Amino acid sequence: MADTASRPLRILVTGANGLLGQSLLYLAQGRHELLATGRGPARGNHFGFPYAELDTTRPEDYERVLAEFKPDVLIHSAAMTQVDDCEKDPETCRQLNVDATR
Ligand SMILES: NC(=O)c1ccc[n+]([C@@H]2O[C@H](COP(=O)([O-])OP(=O)(O)OC[C@H]3O[C@@H](n4cnc5c(N)ncnc54)[C@H](OP(=O)(O)O)[C@@H]3O)[C@@H](O)[C@H]2O)c1
Repeated sequence: MADTASRPLRILVTGANGLLGQSLLYLAQGRHELLATGRGPARGNHFGFPYAELDTTRPEDYERVLAEFKPDVLIHSAAMTQVDDCEKDPETCRQLNVDATR
């Protein structure tokens, strides 16, 4: 494992366009190197951090982004969060919240 004690962490955030992702980016300003990722083009405020498209259901997106950025830490904040949507479409909910997380 890389020695991270003497340098800022390299943090990859999934779901960076969401509520938790946005808060994480805000808190990381000036402290860490961070790559914001999300589904589709950048939206929201990325506080000056670079952004890459990463759909968590696509393993090839993970492979590409992990190989390029080489994070010390991955914070997984991408999720299907609307309970009503999950009840209407449990298969997609499982794909996003269970399989993609695994
Ligand atoms: N907010 C809270 O107070 C809170 C408290 C405790 C735990 N949490 C947990 O934290 C996590 C995030 O919650 P949140 O409030 O930030 O939810 P949110 O605002 O709904 O954000 C979720 C983000 O995930 C993205 N996403 C969905 N499917 C994706 C995919 N296949 N690939 C990439 N990104 C995808 C969404 O993208 P789109 O914008 O494109 O839909 C959205 O930006 C959840 O697991 C939630 O249970 C949140």
